[in-house]
Amino acid sequence: MTVFETVRLSAAEAAEDDLPELLDVYLSNPAYLELTEGSGGVPGAYDRGMLERDLAMSALTPGRHTAVLRLHDGGHCVGVLDWMDENPSDGAPWLGLIMIHAGHQHRGLGAEAVAGLAEHGRAAGWKRLREGVIAGNDAGMALARAAGMREVERRPHRIAAGDRELAVMELEL
Ligand SMILES: CC(C)(COP(=O)(O)OP(=O)(O)OC[C@H]1O[C@@H](n2cnc3c(N)ncnc32)[C@H](O)[C@@H]1OP(=O)(O)O)[C@@H](O)C(=O)NCCC(=O)NCCS
Repeated sequence: MTVFETVRLSAAEAAEDDLPELLDVYLSNPAYLELTEGSGGVPGAYDRGMLERDLAMSALTPGRHTAVLRLHDGGHCVGVLDWMDENPSDGAPWLGLIMIHAGHQHRGLGAEAVAGLAEHGRAAGWKRLREGVIAGNDAGMALARAAGMREVERRPHRIAAGDRELAVMELEL
């Protein structure tokens, strides 16, 4: 089911059929997986089973959405977008993950997808959109800033790669 559209992209709830293409998007970003994922002591390890588990968790969490990003032109899957309408910790909508296939980065697609989510949220009555960016993720921070977000908090954060800081970014809608 399509959730929103932008000039070049459609964002639709991810389904079983999308799994191979979505896995391709994840595996094209090994540096990010090294930061956030790992299995059996292998940093960055990510496979179809882990993706299935992540999608199942998303489907079970009320108000959480995982969308596949496809180009209108040709229907190719170029990314994934995950968000919560209301994070139980602060009641705010949170962008959980934006990832663009390495072969399609630096074309403004990430920024377009976040702008599309912000527009979708504004229409649904959201007053703000938050996102946590791991300190040192330069692309993630550049994208958040390009989307108009500003840092509102910094807190310690444990990820697969170890203890880091999380910058809480916020966009007023
Ligand atoms: C972050 C990510 C989604 C950006 O996607 P993208 O489609 O390449 O981004 P865009 O082309 O829309 O660029 C948006 C802005 O970020 C900047 N940017 C993109 N990649 C960058 C990089 N590697 N280093 C520094 N800046 C970068 C662009 O210059 C642009 O800034 P500008 O508008 O001021 O010129 C992509 O790098 C990715 O999937 N990374 C792995 C997952 C990840 O880190 N997600 C973010 C989690 S917080």
